[in-house]
Amino acid sequence: MAVLLITDNGKRSRPLIEALRCVTPCEVVGPTVEWSAQTPVAAVVVDCDFTELSVGRCLKALGDRPDITANILGIAYRSSSKALRTAMALGLDACIPFYTEPHVIVAAVQNLIDPDDGILNASTRRCAEQAAAAVSHLFHSAGTRGRIDLKAVDDSVDPILTALKDGGLARWLNTIEAHDKATYQHSLRVAGLSAQFANHIGFPDFQRRRLVRAALVHDLGKSQVPRELLLKKGSLNPEELVIMRAHTTLGYDILKASSNADSAMLDAVRHHHELLDGSGYPDGLSGDAISDIVRLLTICDIYSALTERRSYKPAMEPQEAIAVLHGMSTKVEPRFVQALDRALAA
Ligand SMILES: [Fe+2]
Ligand SMILES: [Fe+2]
Repeated sequence: MAVLLITDNGKRSRPLIEALRCVTPCEVVGPTVEWSAQTPVAAVVVDCDFTELSVGRCLKALGDRPDITANILGIAYRSSSKALRTAMALGLDACIPFYTEPHVIVAAVQNLIDPDDGILNASTRRCAEQAAAAVSHLFHSAGTRGRIDLKAVDDSVDPILTALKDGGLARWLNTIEAHDKATYQHSLRVAGLSAQFANHIGFPDFQRRRLVRAALVHDLGKSQVPRELLLKKGSLNPEELVIMRAHTTLGYDILKASSNADSAMLDAVRHHHELLDGSGYPDGLSGDAISDIVRLLTICDIYSALTERRSYKPAMEPQEAIAVLHGMSTKVEPRFVQALDRALAA
């Protein structure tokens, strides 16, 4: 979610806008904005003269919007008790003097935000940018050259582990959501979920890294699937399904053509759509033929796909997605689903 900044002077607000945009998406509007079809917001900052009629009308209309429950912070240009009473009467939750440094205002905004609303922490955002750049490079290389540089995979692992350690999984997922490329988003989400999972079940560092590396490349074959198919709304016809399912073997071939791919990565890329009852693809593996690392990854992959918002579907709520996974007990490892449920709550 973004922070909404209402300003009656964009030039004056520029330093604040830039400071906010270092940590979160920030939508900027004027006090004469029409409120219809606005995106959800995590917090509202009002950088205006509160005594202006247009500002009063704007905030009244904002208060009438049932979808806005975020806290509102005002930048006060007058410190008289009358001015502050006016601000509070307009529905502001807090005021901060105009001479306050932008980074302090940003900190105040962060304090006003419900953590679940997804304010982005600067270090998590930097980690996300590094990891997204590396994954973007991976997909580009896989799509154009048919092989990848494994160093780019390693370059993604540390930022993900650091972001999770510093800011937790929820913040990582929210930060990733700010990126616009669905396939990279998905890989980074699955990698974050896998890392959380691995932490929760006490994987040693080397195993956790193997799982995160495998998660980062699991859908690499999609770099060779037509974009129209990846974004298609509605179900795929049988021919399209064959092409889409080939991302597993395409990804495997890409890794095979790249030097230094480890066995866990090859296994994960080829088999992450295999299911315990043998109904998966591409090899129809069942039971013990599916390794633990693939079983873990498959669960993170399904959970992530269900809870992602795509152009063709809304996001499912986390508990609903876990319930779906519990309902797949013949297909995915039930004890790993329980472990993921606990890992998400940790
Ligand atoms: Fe996949
Ligand atoms: Fe996937």
